[in-house]
Amino acid sequence: MTAGKDWHAWHQPYADASSPLSRRLRLVQRHIASWLDDRPGEPLTVVSACAGQGHDLLGVLGTRADANRVRATLLEYDERNVAAAQAAVEKAALRNVTVVRANAGDRGAYVGAVPADLVLMAGVFGNVSHADVRGTISALPELCAAGATVIWTRTRRAPDLTPAVRRWLAAAGFAEQAFHAPAGELFSVGVHRFTGAPRPMTPRGRLFRFLA
Ligand SMILES: C[S@@+](CC[C@H](N)C(=O)[O-])C[C@H]1O[C@@H](n2cnc3c(N)ncnc32)[C@H](O)[C@@H]1O
Repeated sequence: MTAGKDWHAWHQPYADASSPLSRRLRLVQRHIASWLDDRPGEPLTVVSACAGQGHDLLGVLGTRADANRVRATLLEYDERNVAAAQAAVEKAALRNVTVVRANAGDRGAYVGAVPADLVLMAGVFGNVSHADVRGTISALPELCAAGATVIWTRTRRAPDLTPAVRRWLAAAGFAEQAFHAPAGELFSVGVHRFTGAPRPMTPRGRLFRFLA
């Protein structure tokens, strides 16, 4: 499933604050913080698909006095990344965050974790087939609570799929809140709000398969 790539080593550029990955992270974190600020006092649910070491969500929650109103599930397959995320959860005393070793491409992994008010799809759409990106987007109404926010990332390396991603999100009932495609960078970060009606989760079947 993840045999081809060292997904633990993939996280190393986060140690360099000037790396593109760190710049992408700061954008994602800024939107997570705004999402929390826009919904003060509410108990909120988050699911992160292919969460890696959880730098995005855990980095924000670790700085917030209101972190424990967030119930979050991080789905990650690589055991070393699961251990790193778990260590960060413990260090920040985030008592409502669970890190689960699971194949986030399986719908079953989301049972009990959704519907979520925030769905993180960071580092997913660039690692699966175009058909799986489209299929996952069309299934997002099963992961989303009413009014949920989806934060996603995608490389714009040619062929740039982001115009199609944005079209598919619109067709699935998502209104674009932000789309960052900084000049000179290959990454992009999108923020979409779910304006449609949530659908019950189908607990069986595949959303995507990682290619790397
Ligand atoms: C590109 S990284 C993104 C990590 C994190 N979301 C971030 O942006 O920092 C992709 C992550 O997906 C994990 N992964 C790969 N296949 C997976 C699968 N089927 N289920 C869950 N995680 C998977 C990898 O181990 C890796 O940590």
